[in-house]
Order: sequence, then structure tokens, then C-alpha cells
Amino acid sequence: MTVQTFNPSNTQTTSTQATATLALPVESGVSIKRLYIETQGCQMNEYDSSRMADLLGDSHGYVLTTDPAEADILLMNTCSIREKAQEKVFSELGRWRKLKEQNPELIIGVGGCVASQEGEGIQKRAPYVDMVFGPQTLHRLPQMLNQYHDNKADRSTNQKISLVDISFPEIEKFDFLPEPKVEGYKAFVSIMEGCSKYCSFCVVPYTRGEEVSRPLDDVIAEIVSLATQGVREVTLLGQNVNGYRGDMHEGGVCNFADLLRLVAKIEGIGRIRYTTSHPLEFSDELINVYAELPQLVSHLHLPVQSGSNPVLAAMKRNHTIDVYIEKIKKLRAVRPDIHLSSDFIIGFPNEGDAEFEDTLQFIKDLDFDHSYSFIYSKRPGTPAAELPDNTPEDVKKVRLSRVKEVLKASTIAKTDAMLGKTLNVLVEKSSDRQDGALIASADNTRLVQFIGDTALIGQFVTVKVTDIRSMNLVQAELVDA
Ligand code: SAH
Ligand code: F3S
Repeated sequence: MTVQTFNPSNTQTTSTQATATLALPVESGVSIKRLYIETQGCQMNEYDSSRMADLLGDSHGYVLTTDPAEADILLMNTCSIREKAQEKVFSELGRWRKLKEQNPELIIGVGGCVASQEGEGIQKRAPYVDMVFGPQTLHRLPQMLNQYHDNKADRSTNQKISLVDISFPEIEKFDFLPEPKVEGYKAFVSIMEGCSKYCSFCVVPYTRGEEVSRPLDDVIAEIVSLATQGVREVTLLGQNVNGYRGDMHEGGVCNFADLLRLVAKIEGIGRIRYTTSHPLEFSDELINVYAELPQLVSHLHLPVQSGSNPVLAAMKRNHTIDVYIEKIKKLRAVRPDIHLSSDFIIGFPNEGDAEFEDTLQFIKDLDFDHSYSFIYSKRPGTPAAELPDNTPEDVKKVRLSRVKEVLKASTIAKTDAMLGKTLNVLVEKSSDRQDGALIASADNTRLVQFIGDTALIGQFVTVKVTDIRSMNLVQAELVDA
């Protein structure tokens, strides 16, 4: 197999020609080319996948399908945050191989963080993969596809040529993505790429590169476009959004607090979420924005990873639990009803019983809502992978289940506490559980069911909670319309 390193600079002409020819069958109704995208991992990947769909729809007329068996191209947007996620890639690719055996014209592409990490290694293990692209090069998919077709048309070689482009061309990607197309009332907006925090356990800085912020105007223009298409809630995405430093066209740099202020001014945007942020950059200025902007949800996901200082130090999180507690105290002073969630890594090297008990106590003290917890997964190439780890796997599993139990009890208690409360909710759709009812979402992500006219879909309404159905669903009645 010849691995051809993809060079976008010499594909400009090919791109225009092939776009024109490939668009024809769709326009003439002869055949529709179908695209299937499997998305693994985080919301960043979800965002990237929807942009890939927009991109290939515009450039080559591809239409999304939910059935891989009827697709002409299969793309996998992968995650490598933990070993399990990474293993999933090759087992899934094995299934796709069978589809390609039945349909040799099928094109298979692998993107995302595993692609970024493994590069050509993907095709060594799975030679039937035609294209490998990284999180920062997905905008070059149309050109890669053109090049793929050109290579195929070139009969002078019988060798399989595969395309690999996993470079980090700064923030170029966003300049090549079309305007987002949306369905529904919520949308993700990526405001920055990568992470420069280098927590000792984490692959993100290596797979997605260092932090690069999108220019302010680009972010605002994207949100304005979403709002005119009916979007009412945006989630600003990045690995460390409060490290946002967006260039402004008039010069200068916009920080995250100011970005939030500007987003709140966009007509139609009634609710702003963001994820994820790092405690170190959770500044006083950002806390004050919670006092200023009602659009900013009363829900904060602020990963802490551990409630033990020695573990935090070994993780290179660069703060102590006191710093975290202090910030949350200040935040609760301006937003008493804020729901706080977090990520926890259990079984990090040298987490002994005492460190684990500290984490458990910390979780109870801080009164977290529905948080995520994971057993530490050793990632090749990260500094923590070098640390000796003497804790047996079954001990880690017991610890994880104890953490999950405490977190679940807290989620249930928080939902129960919603009874009788008046909430501002975004109405999203008709309920399929109760006739005449609608489903809305609350700030704290609980679903809220109430009787109401379908004309309310897409609007914010005030409801009063009358019953608790499950830890994720409450019943309510409309207070105003
Ligand atoms: N930007 C986020 C984290 C992104 S990764 C932050 O500021 O923390 C999402 C979550 O995956 C992390 O918060 C962490 O809890 C978990 N995670 C990352 N690397 C991991 C590893 N090697 N093993 C287990 N969990 C990990
Ligand atoms: Fe990973 Fe730490 Fe950044 S968890 S994404 S290196 S803040």
C-alpha cells in the first residue's frame, strides 16, 4: 500500500472540477449519494460531525443516512480519551469491512482523535480504510474525496493509495466550513480548538493540538446565523472555553466573559451553555457575568477530577481543592440556584484509600448534581502513563461504584427538590408519553412535561413543577403562555 500524505495546496483545480461532475447525478435525480457518520466521544465531536455533514452536502451533494448499509461513504469520528473508546474504533471498523466486501465502491474514512493519534497506523491495522483525517483537517474532506476519485481513475497504478492528513493547520478549518444548517432549537458552537493545559492523564493536547480561539466575528456570525434559523439555545464548545481569547476585527482580544456578554445580545438566543472549562480560569469576572446575564444557565459543568490535593498535584491540574471550593462559594453567592456538575477520575496512580475517601467526602460537601466518573485509563504518550500504579483493578471498580452511588443519590435529591418550583423552560417537542403534552428542557437539563399547545414549541415558557416522574423527568403545569 502507498500512503500518500495529503497536500491540500495542490488540489484546488481538482476540487472545482470534481465538485461539478459529482453534483450532477443529484441534480438530475438519478442517484442520491448517501453519507453515514458515526460519532464517538464528546460534544466537540458531535459538532465536528455535523459540520462534516454540512460540508459534504454542499460540496458533493451527500445526504445523511442513519443506515450504514445504504451509505456510499462511511465516516467514523473517533475518541481516544480512554482505552475503551479507542478499542471500539477497530471493532466497529471490522463491521464496516464486511459492508465494503459487499460493496467495493464504498468509501471509508476515519477522523477524530484516534485518527490524529494513530495516523497511518489506522490503515496498517485496517487497510480497507481509504482516508484518515484529524479534528483540525476535516474541512479538507471534499478535496480528499476528489483526490481519492482522481487516484482511482488513474489506472497507471494498481497499488491502493490512501490519504492521510492529520496536521494542525491552526484554525484554518473554520474558514472552509459552510454556514451550519440546523434542526431544532439547540445548537453547539465551537469557539476554540485544542487544549494547552496538559493535565498529566489527558491525550487532548496531543490529539487536538494546543488552544487556538476562533476570531470573535466568526463565532458571532455563526450564532446569528443559527438564531435566524430558529435556534434559541447555544452551547459554546471547547476543551477549556474560559481560556477563550478571540481576535477582534478592530484589534484587541475578547475574553470569555465578554464573549458571553456579546452572545447574550444576539436576538433570539435565550439560553447560553458552555462546556468545558477549567477551574483555574474560572475568573471573578466570569462569576460576575452570572449576576449580569439571565441567559446564562443555572448549570455549570466544572471538572475537578479529584477531591484530594496530592492526586490533583499528580494530575497537574495546578490548583488545590480549596481554590475550587472558594470559586464555587463565590458563584453560589451570585447564583444560589446553580446546579454544579463535574468529572471525576477514579483510581489515578497513587490514589490510596485515604485519597479516595477525600474525593467521596468532597463530592458530598460540594453537593454536585449529575456528574461523570471514570476509572483512570492509561494513555500512551501522556506523562501519567509513566507513573507506577499499584491499585488493583477490582479495588478501582468498587471505588467507582461507590462514587456513582453518591452521585446518583445527589441527582435524585436535586430532581426531587424541583417539586413546586417555578422554572423557565425551552419547549422542544410534543411528548410521546402523554397526549396533548409537550417536552421542554430546564436549565439543569431535566426534561419537563406539561400540557400545552404545540404553537409553544421553540419558545421559552414558565412552568410550575407538580410531580417527579424519574430522576430526569418532571411533570409541570404552564404558568403563562
Ligand atoms: N476539558 C475538560 C476535559 C475533557 S476530557 C477539562 O477541563 O477537564 C473529558 C473528561 O474525560 C475529563 O474531564 C476527565 O474526567 C476524563 N478523562 C480524560 N482523560 C482520562 C483518562 N486518561 N482516564 C480516565 N478519564 C479521563
Ligand atoms: Fe484534558 Fe486537562 Fe485539557 S483534562 S482537555 S488537558 S484541561
